Amino acid sequence: MLFGRIKSLDAILATAEKKSLHRTLGWFQLTLFGIGCVIGTGIFVLTAAGAQKAGPGLMLAFAIAGAICIVAALCYAEIAAMIPVAGSAYTYTYASMGEFLAWTVGWALILEYAVAASAVAVGWSGYFSGTILQHTFGIHLPAYLSAGPLALGGAPGGLINLPAVVISFLVTWLLVIGTSESAKVNAVLVMIKIAALLVFMFLTVPRIDPAQFNPFLPAGLFGGFGTGVGAVGAAATIFFAYVGFDSVSTAAEETKNPQRNVPIGLIGSLVFCTVFYIVVAAGAIGTIGGQPIMGPNGIPFPTGSEELARQCAMAEHAGKLVCSNEALAHVLRQIGFGPIGNMLGYAAFIALPSVILVLLFGQTRIFFVMSRDGLLPAAWSKVHPKWKTPHIVTMITGCAVALAAAFLPVGQLADYANAGTLYAFMMVAIALLVLRKVQPDRKRAFRTPFAWVVAPLTIVGCLFLFFNLPLVAMLVLPGWGVIGLLIYFLYSRQRSHVGRGIDDPEEAELAGMPKPR
Ligand code: ALA
Repeated sequence: MLFGRIKSLDAILATAEKKSLHRTLGWFQLTLFGIGCVIGTGIFVLTAAGAQKAGPGLMLAFAIAGAICIVAALCYAEIAAMIPVAGSAYTYTYASMGEFLAWTVGWALILEYAVAASAVAVGWSGYFSGTILQHTFGIHLPAYLSAGPLALGGAPGGLINLPAVVISFLVTWLLVIGTSESAKVNAVLVMIKIAALLVFMFLTVPRIDPAQFNPFLPAGLFGGFGTGVGAVGAAATIFFAYVGFDSVSTAAEETKNPQRNVPIGLIGSLVFCTVFYIVVAAGAIGTIGGQPIMGPNGIPFPTGSEELARQCAMAEHAGKLVCSNEALAHVLRQIGFGPIGNMLGYAAFIALPSVILVLLFGQTRIFFVMSRDGLLPAAWSKVHPKWKTPHIVTMITGCAVALAAAFLPVGQLADYANAGTLYAFMMVAIALLVLRKVQPDRKRAFRTPFAWVVAPLTIVGCLFLFFNLPLVAMLVLPGWGVIGLLIYFLYSRQRSHVGRGIDDPEEAELAGMPKPR
């Protein structure tokens, strides 16, 4: 039966106990870990695109996306503390709705983690080529080495995004040599990022002119199906700025006292980031303005389009926030803090790799668990004897991330990541309700308050944002899903440990690999 293979919670916890990763992370490291992932390309790169979609309504967009993530985080927190193992939404779905849906979630999480990691690597590459190579050292990296060929509307003559490939491999190496080492590096980078944003707020907020917020919703609240504009369209895109907070739950298996620390890490990092984003957006738009450049029909020109690029090249639009590739540094330069703006650019250049690190970490842990469940090759879940990390799966993931980063543009990668993430969040909310029903007495160290309101709100919120993504991004999810289903039915279903009636991989070896059912 398609929906019959449910993995028992006891089996999940017992397997994790036997083949566990090292528990080295505390709540503080975990919160930093979450922030390390959450603050990144979304605020440093996509703020300009958000303003082009919504104008000052971008602040509302951050609030909408943040509110949906907070209710989702409340759902995550209960299950993550109850099932403190690596695997996140995939494992929760396995325990509540069975293997088939769990596979679809695991498959969608690849969009969330690996594809988002690629997006951030490409964003970082822009800073590296622009701020560092060009503006600091006067070196111009040729287009064929700084952009992929599929960068629609991007630099002509692109062949491979070499800096994005290099940073992907560098971060992969950090993860292979060990979690605690890489977490320490991560902590330093997060501090740099927070300091940069604090300086930004300190310099911009006192200079806010309320007149810049008028009109507040130049493109309306809803921009229309498939258009991706208006405050809600901007929320669907800027949702990327929150992608990754759930990575805290993927680290649960490596966390000390996960019942307490995981909810603190999840909710703490998210509330912190939401406040930061709204204040930063207010500072950016309130100082230099953030009205979109409108097309002839009164709808903002699409971000990343040729028309918008042409408009931005015109003198009348020079210096506009919506035309900038380094939005926050640009704002500081415009209000007379040029050198500090450049410093902020360096901070983004130094800190974005921490986002790649956390996303890549999350992806490897999900693959690790899927492999431990028999749905992916067993060799993938081998833990390195010295470094105590799932080194094989980390290296495989790093190569895949580098490959996507080499050839695809940042905008598309971010939208695809959002589509996969929204599906996963929705499934977590459903899993929460299912587990409340079927396992009412199991110990819950953290109970989602008003779960029967919060979880349905999460589901509706995720669907709402999904249907406000640009049309192509909406279509990517079912397309990607079809590929995943082929792999499931041709490979994974026959090899599943649950399908073969075994709960533990070592048991499978001893049993001489019994025949699939
Ligand atoms: N939320 C992460 C970012 O903004 C993925 O870069």
